[in-house]
Formats: sequence, structure tokens, C-alpha cells
Amino acid sequence: MARIVGGVAASHTPTIGFAYDQNKQDDPSWAPIFKAFEPVQQWFREKKPDAIVYIFNDHVTSFFFDHYSAFTLGIGEEYPVADEGGSPRALPPIKGDPKLAAHIAASLVTDEFDLSYFQDKPLDHGFFSPMSVLLDRDGEQWATRLVPLQVGVLQFPIPTAMRCYKLGKALRRAIESYPADISVAVVSTGGLSHQVHGEGAGFNNPAWDAQFLDAITDDPAALAEMTHAEYARLGGFEGAEVIMWLIMRGALSERVERVHSSYYLPSMTGIATLVLENEAAGPIPDGVHERHRERIAEQLRGIETMPGTYPFDIAASVKAYRINKYLHAMIDPAHRERFLADEEASLAGADLTDEERDLIRRRDWPGMIHYGVIFFMLEKLAAVTGISNLHVYAAMRGETLEDFLKTRNTQVIYSVAGKR
Ligand code: FE2
Repeated sequence: MARIVGGVAASHTPTIGFAYDQNKQDDPSWAPIFKAFEPVQQWFREKKPDAIVYIFNDHVTSFFFDHYSAFTLGIGEEYPVADEGGSPRALPPIKGDPKLAAHIAASLVTDEFDLSYFQDKPLDHGFFSPMSVLLDRDGEQWATRLVPLQVGVLQFPIPTAMRCYKLGKALRRAIESYPADISVAVVSTGGLSHQVHGEGAGFNNPAWDAQFLDAITDDPAALAEMTHAEYARLGGFEGAEVIMWLIMRGALSERVERVHSSYYLPSMTGIATLVLENEAAGPIPDGVHERHRERIAEQLRGIETMPGTYPFDIAASVKAYRINKYLHAMIDPAHRERFLADEEASLAGADLTDEERDLIRRRDWPGMIHYGVIFFMLEKLAAVTGISNLHVYAAMRGETLEDFLKTRNTQVIYSVAGKR
């Protein structure tokens, strides 16, 4: 069974990454950051977590307002560094943990925390700023795998502090019920006090920051009661992102030991670190986690006995991501024109495996479904290639169009091809 080795919290201001990239370790203005981060780095070295669940907010880099979600779980295989306006920092991508992510997703949804899911997106300074300093790398390989949880705290209404705290408690159940024997650290970032917009820019409140560090350790339930406005008044408007720390805190036991904490205010943002470990609690009987996994399995129980039925889940989504992405691009006129003009050239230039190219080339409709392509991509490919939905349905059933149409009340054919 997976176990939580502790909780870490840190600010994620870009100054940390900047100081690291500019080798400012010995610069008197920046040295205190590195000094404060060192024990946390050491903690990661000692605990060697197999995975970290990392709670942060993106800064309108990879998550824009065309689709903004409250809680977005990373399910992907890898996360590269985002370009935030200059160019990406020179850091290798970090490996994800799709299996752990899939379990966490299923567990949280079972506990009524419905999520969004993402993959194929780079992460901005919300992740790479503190983690470039805290996590070791061996060449291109980071010391742990990552399951990121992006919290939409920038476009109101946003989740309440209480919702974050409750999500943390559900996250604990999710991690501890994961059947693999791995160690997991829960990391939350953001804050502390700062405001970066409007006439209020430059606001800080070190006294409140100190109080917050105490309360998150010993009295998180009180912090969970506070409103966004109360957080903003005490810690600056953008400082209110510290509600994300309550997710980490909720994932720990009621009583914790504070093994490290630091605070430094160099410029705009109070830079803090915090490491908490669970105080020894009696082991939770195996039956509790088994019961929870039973509840997780309940919704799709028996689906495997339905002939010709293939639920599109996170495992399928990750496995078939490239081919689904290629077929999804059929909604772009330029992509489909290239495909129609020279299919082989389009396939050759795409990020696809030979097996995936072949499935498309042969219009292997049932094969694509078995592989993990969702039906609605077949529908798009059919529309582009002048084939009706009914052809696809018949092919998936292994029947001729004529035979399949005989099973319908009306013998009509249609597709989603629009004006074509
Ligand atoms: Fe932030």
C-alpha cells in the first residue's frame, strides 16, 4: 500500500528559479533562499519519495480562460518546462505517473470531487521554480515521478479554503488506498503574502505570514473557515493562493510534527518553506482501504461483461493520446487539407507509432476502438474522408452497411461533415 512520507509547502515565486539559473547561491541578497531551501532538499534526499503529488497554480501559461477549471489533475507521462514569454528554462522534463494519477482520480471522484484532467501541457514556474532547487536530478532524470494538481485560483469564483482542506482529506484516502507499495510526498505551493496587481502591488505582511505558518501546522481547521477576502486583506490579493496549502495539510494526520520551516522576504513575495511529518498514528486496518477500493470499482462493475463495450478511461486516454490528438486535429481545415492532399506525408510527419499510422491508413474502425481511440475521433475521420457514421457503425460490428441499415427503423445515412 502507498504511504505518505510527509507534506512540504513552499512559495513558488519566479525569483527562486531566477536565482538558481543565475547561480546566485553566494550572492548575499539571494543566499538566504538557498539556505532556507537546503533542509527541504535534504529531506527529499532522505525520504526519496517514489512520487510527489504537487499542488500548485498555473499562471495563465498552460491554462487560459478559454477553459478554466477548479481542480485539474495531471495524468500524463511527462511534463516539460513552459515558455512564459522568454524561452523555457534549461531543465529536463519530469516524468509523470499515469497509474497513480488514474487511481487518485478514481478515488477523488468516488469521494465526490469531480476533476478535470490534463496531459501534454508544459508546467510553468508554479512547479519548476521551487522544484528546480528542491529536487535532485541525475542528468536528464529527476529524482521522483510527478502527479500535478493544478488549482484554478485566478478567475473567481474559486474553490474555498474549506473545499481545499476537504480535498486534502480525500487525497489522503486516495494515496493511502493505492495498492502499490510506494512512498509519496504531498507538496503544496504558493504564497506567502504578496500582491502583484493594481495600486495594492507590493503589499506584504510578515506578521501574518508567521501566524499562518503556525496555524497551518497546528490549527488548519481554523484557516479553512476563512474567506478569500480575509486571506487577501491579511496576505495580499495574490497571497490568497495559500489556500492551496490546506490541500497538503488535509492529506496529513490531525497532529503533525514541523520538521523544518523558514521565511524570507527579498522582494515582492514572502518566501516560505515548511516540512511536516505525520505524528505516529495507529495503522489503518487493511479492510478500510479495501472497502474504499470496492467503492471506487462500483460504478463500472460488470461493464466487462457487456459485449463490444470499451470504456474510455485515463489509461486509454494516455495510451492513445497521440492518435486521438492527430484525429482531433481534423477539426482544423489546414490539417485535414494536408491529410486529403497527401495522406502518407501527413502520417509520416505526425507524432505517431507505426501501429497507429497503420490503424488510420487501413481505416480500421474496430481496431482503433480496441486501441483506445474514442468514437468521436472516428466520426471526424469519417467526415473528412466522406464516409457516413453508419458505415463506421457497421464496420465496428463487422457487418455490411446494407445489413446494418436493415436493423434500423429508418434507412438514412449521415455524418458530422457540416457543409462538405
Ligand atoms: Fe502563484
